[in-house]
This record gives sequence, C-alpha cells and structure tokens, in this order.
Amino acid sequence: MNSPDRQLESSIYPPPPALAQHAHVAGRAAYDALVAEAEEDHEAYWARLAREFVHWKHPFKKVLGSEKAPHYSWFEDGTLNVSWNCLDRQVAEGRGDKVAIVFEADDGQVTRTTYAQLLAMTCRLANALKAQGVKKGDRVAIYMSMSVEAVAAMQACARIGAIHTVVFGGFSAHSLRDRIADTGAVLLITADEQLRGGKALPLKAIADEALALGGCEAVRSVIVYRRTGGAIAWSARDHWLHELMATQAEHCEPEWVGAEHPLFLLYTSGSTGKPKGVQHSSGGYLVQAAVTMKWTFDMHDDDVFWCTADIGWVTGHSYIAYGPLAIGATEIVFEGVPTYPDAGRFWKMIERHKVTVFYTAPTAIRSLIKAAESHAEVHPDRFDLSSLRVLGSVGEPINPAAWEWYHRNVGGGRCPIVDTWWQTETGAQMITPLPGATKLVPGSCTLPFPGIAAAIVDELGEDVPNGQSGLLVIKKPWPGMIRTIWGDDERYRSSYYPAELRGYYLAGDGAARDRATGYFTIGGRIDDVLNVSGHRMGTMEIESALVACTELVAEAAVVGRPDETSGEAICAFVVLKGARPHGEAADKLAVQLRNWVGKEIGPIAKPKDIRFADNLPKTRSGKIMRRLLRSVAKGEAVTQDVSTLENPAILQQLFETH
Ligand code: PRX
Repeated sequence: MNSPDRQLESSIYPPPPALAQHAHVAGRAAYDALVAEAEEDHEAYWARLAREFVHWKHPFKKVLGSEKAPHYSWFEDGTLNVSWNCLDRQVAEGRGDKVAIVFEADDGQVTRTTYAQLLAMTCRLANALKAQGVKKGDRVAIYMSMSVEAVAAMQACARIGAIHTVVFGGFSAHSLRDRIADTGAVLLITADEQLRGGKALPLKAIADEALALGGCEAVRSVIVYRRTGGAIAWSARDHWLHELMATQAEHCEPEWVGAEHPLFLLYTSGSTGKPKGVQHSSGGYLVQAAVTMKWTFDMHDDDVFWCTADIGWVTGHSYIAYGPLAIGATEIVFEGVPTYPDAGRFWKMIERHKVTVFYTAPTAIRSLIKAAESHAEVHPDRFDLSSLRVLGSVGEPINPAAWEWYHRNVGGGRCPIVDTWWQTETGAQMITPLPGATKLVPGSCTLPFPGIAAAIVDELGEDVPNGQSGLLVIKKPWPGMIRTIWGDDERYRSSYYPAELRGYYLAGDGAARDRATGYFTIGGRIDDVLNVSGHRMGTMEIESALVACTELVAEAAVVGRPDETSGEAICAFVVLKGARPHGEAADKLAVQLRNWVGKEIGPIAKPKDIRFADNLPKTRSGKIMRRLLRSVAKGEAVTQDVSTLENPAILQQLFETH
C-alpha cells in the first residue's frame, strides 16, 4: 500500500524534460527569475514585455498611470493598432501564407484562411463598416456564431477604432437588446442562422426581435453574414455582408489609437440583476493576451492551437480572436458542439488537425468522461492524439479526478495541464502553471503568472497565512485589467476596489494557498454569482427574470448547488401569486418558468430545479436566508441557526421536492 507521502508524491507532475528544455520559460529557476524581475521593478518588467510583444506606432514613455486610481492606465502615451499587430505584422514578418485559422464547420467541412487572406477580409469588412458610417469610438454589436467572419468582424472593429461588444449567440433577444442599449451600439453584425449539432438556429430573427423591443434606436444598420441561406425577414436597414465586402478595397489604413482606447466591452454577471459591461483597453490588453498566449501554452511556430471557447466569452476574445493572432499562431475555430455527430468529436478533430495545444473547460471534460465510459467508440484511446503537447483548462475549478482522466486519456500521461485561473475582468490569464517550469498538482492552478501580484487576504486586506482560506486579491495593477464598467465608474470602484481592501483588486473568489508550496486552490465565488458549466450567472439576474413573469410569480430566490457535470446547478425557490401547485401541475409550471427564463436571458440560465413554496425563509428584518436555501438545495441537513427565522414552519415545505 502507498504511504500518504507516496500518494502525495505520485500526484505531483514535474514538467516533461524534453518540453522544459525548449520552453520559453524553461525550468523553475527561469520562472523565479521572471518573478524576481517583476518584483524588483513591476513597471520596467511589463514595459519590457510590452516592447517585445507589441509593435507600437509611437512608443510609450509612461508605463503605469495611477493618478486616477483605481482607474489605472498602461502605456498611455503609446499608440498602436491591435489588428495591425495581429495581421499586417504577421504578413510583414513572412507569415502571409501561414494558415491563421483552420475552420471546421458543424458538418465537418474544413476551410483554411492564411494571414494574408484574413488581413484582406478584415480590411474589406473594416471598409464596409466605415462606409456604413462607423467611426472611431462607436460601438458595434456582434451577435454571431463561431466563424472566420466573426473573428474578422472583431478585428475589423479594432482596425478602425470601433469598440465591439460580442454577445454570445445563445443569449435571448432581451439580453441582446439590453447589451445593445447599454452600449448605444450604432451597428449590429449578425448571421442569418447558426449551425450547431446539425440544427439551424435563428440569429437574425432574434436580432430583429431584440431591435423591436426598443432602446436600440442608435442602431442604423444591420450587417448579415449568410451562413445557411435560410429564410429570414429583411428590412431597409439590413445589408448582406458579402455584398458590402465585394465592393470594398482589400486595403484599409489602420486607425492608430492611444493604448487606453477601449478595444471592447464584454458583459458579465455580477451580484446585481444588471450585467456589467467590462471595458478593456487596446495596449495593455494586447500585451497580456500575447505574453500569456506564448508562455502559458509554450507556443512555438509550428504549433496548432485549439481553444474550444465561444467568441461570446472572454476566453474566445483573448485566446481565439486576439492572443493566437498576436503571436502569429495557427489556430482551430470550431463551429459545432463536442457531442455532434458523437462525443468523440473533439478527439477526432485533434487527430485530424494534429492539434498540439488544446484548451477547454472542465465541464466539457466531465461530460466527455461520462460519454467515454458508456460508449467505448468515443473514448479518446480510439484516436491518435499523439500530436498533443500541452493541455489547458479554464473557467471553473477542475476536480482532481477529471484532471487525472484528462492527463492520462487525452494527454497520454505526457502533456502538462495548465489550469488557468482568470476572469472577464482580468483580460488574460493570472494564476497558471507554465508547462516547462511548474510542477503540477491536480486541482491547483499553482502560481501567479510572472508580474501578477496575486494574494490571499482577510476582509480587512490583511495577508492570510498559507493553509488558510481567504479572499483572492491582486495587489498591483496589471496591463490587461478591466478599466471600468461601461457607464458606471462607481460600480467599478465599489465592486472591485472596496474601501476596506487597501487598494487591492477584489476578484470575488475565495481561495487558499498550500502550506508548503504556496500553490493556489480556488474555492469558488464569494458573491451571488454562480458558475454553471463555466458560464457566469448572477443569481439576482435569474431572480429578476423570474419575478418579471408578473402574472405568476410573487417572489423568487435563486441559489446554486454542486453538480457533477456542470460544476454548479441553478436552483430556484419560487412563491407564486396563486396557490402552491403540487404534482403534475407543479411540473408543468416549472417547465413554463424554465422556458420563461430561457426567453428572458437565454437557455444557459434555465434553472435545473424549481421548487414552489408558500413563502421564502426570511429573518425578522425581511432578509432572505440564502445560506439556508443553499443547504436545502443541496439536500443537506440544516445546521444554521434558524431561531431568527420569521417563519420556521416554511423549512419543512422547502425540503419537499416535486
Ligand atoms: O470563479 C472563477 C472561475 O470563473 C470566474 C470568472 O468567470 P468569467 O469572467 O466568466 O471568466 C471565465 C474564463 C476566464 C472566476 O471568478 N474560474 C475561472 N477559471 C478558473 C476558475 N475557477 C477555478 N479555476 C480556474 N482555472
């Protein structure tokens, strides 16, 4: 039998020597040297990387601007163009004929787009946007599925200094309207339909519905990418993307913008009902996206990178639309879903395209484990995955069992797994192993990226010793950081820089560091935000959606409970205006409310459990006791003190399932 020490030993994975030898950050000593360089002079370190990784039209002199803290600036007096860095520069450096994007469609068809072609496409699209009157600083909404055109649309906005806001194609008309209205977008780029899992799903029809809801009056035109050719309604403000592009030149002079010019807004959930428009910069963002891309994945010129995220999330921004192109890499863009035509799709694609670096989410891994266990033909061992060198994980904690399976069955026991912790707000990876330098421990995202001052503190900002849990904070500003919440500076300051925390950035996650190694383990959110299949959902957002069903719902409380596949599942406790339903009537109402939430926010926000009650457990001062609801949702015994409960009899009722 293994002694406990041996068990511990066996769950530590040192970097594979062959990989470490040629890695950009080769060995722990190289990592330590970078950390020391950053600690000695934080600004000089990031300035060095900014010069190495990004081409500046006018070089910056000023590095970090703290005058308006906590609204920091980076490289403020430098000018650049993000799309020039991602495309023109690659062509200029001899990568014109290198494949930038290998696109695999839902039905398996493959298209290859070189850097020169992507540049030409981006320029035509940028010229088309200009012809529609889009100017520097204007907001452009993008509601598209995974496609080369979507990446080109983002790059085209960057090229002319327009600020894009990509809205995930799974969001509802209401969610799309809210985002368009909040940003004041002047133009919307969408597609007729999207193809996922063999089905054509509407995009243009939802976009039309969103615009008809009101609040989007600033939108002057809608550009439609023809993906399926399915029938769609057409109005005077609509234009086909291919028709607009056909008449435009292949050259478009980039708009050189200041480093702080906003590159994009991306909405994410917080602890109120209203999603936050996270504002990112051009210069600092690009620097960190490029450096992390190269070091975290140890990218070399012949690598084939595949990030399975959607461009609607931050991972799709930093590690599909910008990071890979900024370092001249070849990447896969996949239109479909991991389970179509069967759950071997990812493995088949890795084999087909000889993917070397693969970056996905724990939820996907967990669901593919389940599938592989019941259907041998979709087990990764049926595929040749020998091209893989490095594996990555993002979006939620990866449990050690899933980690080990991923390592053994996908990585053949030879590929390091980089478990990358970061957020929409951080812009790029923050705490992560570097594959040639960091010993891995399953379940831990290990150590901060060099130059990131991550720490764990208590509620007053006091350092917490290793071995104890606390609040995850970032003590010093970093280049890729959020600049503000669009239109709400005050919410930015109070959410991320609360007065008690001495000027540290509050990530909103609980975490602990290992006593011996200092390795970080993320415990999950400390606020009312859930992580469902790696998607961030605000409980208040779902509650607002439920109570917006004014005909039926009097009150609602939403909490999370652990779920084997999705990490967390959404549980809603609902008080109806009418009598509490039972049996079939309750089931029917639950379906109705689930669909309602799907329509209000999007299918990803549909509660898994809905329980009806005559009342919600409240304190005498009227506060809903959420901790108690969380215990009920988990089905565990209530250990909290319920003596302050205004209506103790409600507890029994809450435990009843329907
Ligand atoms: O709770 C953390 C979790 O995802 C949150 C950020 O979500 P979002 O802004 O949607 O960005 C996801 C993609 C970067 C974090 O506050 N999270 C993200 N990565 C990890 C993680 N939790 C544990 N381990 C990770 N590697």
